[in-house]
Amino acid sequence: MKLTERALRAALWLASWAIYHNGIHADWAYEKMQRPRTWLTLAANLANYFSRRPRVHRMFGVVVEPVFGCNLRCQGCWGAYALAGRRPTHMPWRLFEEVVDQTPSYVETITFSLMGEPLMHPRLHEMIAFAADRGFRTIVFTNGTLLTGDALIRIAQSPLAVLNVSVEPDAESSHEFRGVDLAAVRRNVDAFLAAKRSETQVKLSLVAHSGNYERLGRVWEQWAGVVRHVKISPRMGTNFEAGGPGPLCMEPWRGNLNVFTNGDVSPCCFDYFAELAIGNLYRQTLEEIVQGEAYRDLMAGLLAGQAPQRCVQCTEWKAEGVPLRAPKRPARRPSKAS
Ligand SMILES: C[S@@+](CC[C@H](N)C(=O)[O-])C[C@H]1O[C@@H](n2cnc3c(N)ncnc32)[C@H](O)[C@@H]1O
Ligand code: SF4
Repeated sequence: MKLTERALRAALWLASWAIYHNGIHADWAYEKMQRPRTWLTLAANLANYFSRRPRVHRMFGVVVEPVFGCNLRCQGCWGAYALAGRRPTHMPWRLFEEVVDQTPSYVETITFSLMGEPLMHPRLHEMIAFAADRGFRTIVFTNGTLLTGDALIRIAQSPLAVLNVSVEPDAESSHEFRGVDLAAVRRNVDAFLAAKRSETQVKLSLVAHSGNYERLGRVWEQWAGVVRHVKISPRMGTNFEAGGPGPLCMEPWRGNLNVFTNGDVSPCCFDYFAELAIGNLYRQTLEEIVQGEAYRDLMAGLLAGQAPQRCVQCTEWKAEGVPLRAPKRPARRPSKAS
């Protein structure tokens, strides 16, 4: 590992400790922050959060939803909600081009994920190439089950920076919570590793929940010598009964924009119904959305203790038995939303 990479990782690990009281988020952050200007963007955005200003300095990253829909029904995933018919299943190519063309060059990463399985998009490899051609580092999240045959070769030969394969820690929990034969996913990952470009990193992504928490450590035994990077994040959920002012969540301030198949743009990746949509790319440009009134109003509402229902019902900031992600709302409210 190069010295600069070590220094960046150490700094992120410390920051992760300072904010979340554990180092678990350092690798997630490093994946999206390998260019110095991304650090400056985040610092400026978070300065707004900590000084309670309802604005972002500029866009941090972009996440697109190539496919709305999935071949699996993992427990705890938003796929379990009745979403069908709410928006198109595939992101139209023209919309995708608009997203990439409108993303400023200072943005480092374009990620392919959100509410579905990206490998179900027949042009995913072309999307990766299109974004990489314009200088963006590309990241894909996949359940790994469709990483076979021609699709595997096309993705392996594409200029992809990171392939995140979402798994459970062992065969039993994979069967129970994802309905997936872990050995089959392992064969696909082995084949991908053999066919991929040298610069593409492969990582495992795990969601911690009360059903697998005790078994999380098994992932390192199972994948020893195959995949080095393992990322763990807490399972988020929705408490439909929740009330009150809601959290003062940092996520909207990060400037990470999520673009759904219908062009809706939301600052939260857990916003599966796009209830927090701050604009739509068929009506506005990305820049107009970032600087727009809807985005400012959302942040001002959070600052004023008037969080939208989606935020009030989100369990990210109070998931039990798993690491804390967002700071709890401070006991004392900010005196005014500037
Ligand atoms: C929704 S999936 C979409 C991409 C792809 N289908 C996959 O499984 O990686 C993106 C990531 O969200 C994770 N995820 C699913 N449900 C979650 C939840 N309730 N809380 C936190 N993360 C979740 C998945 O494990 C996966 O790593
Ligand atoms: S976690 Fe991924 S694979 Fe599982 S249901 Fe959700 S979108 Fe599909």
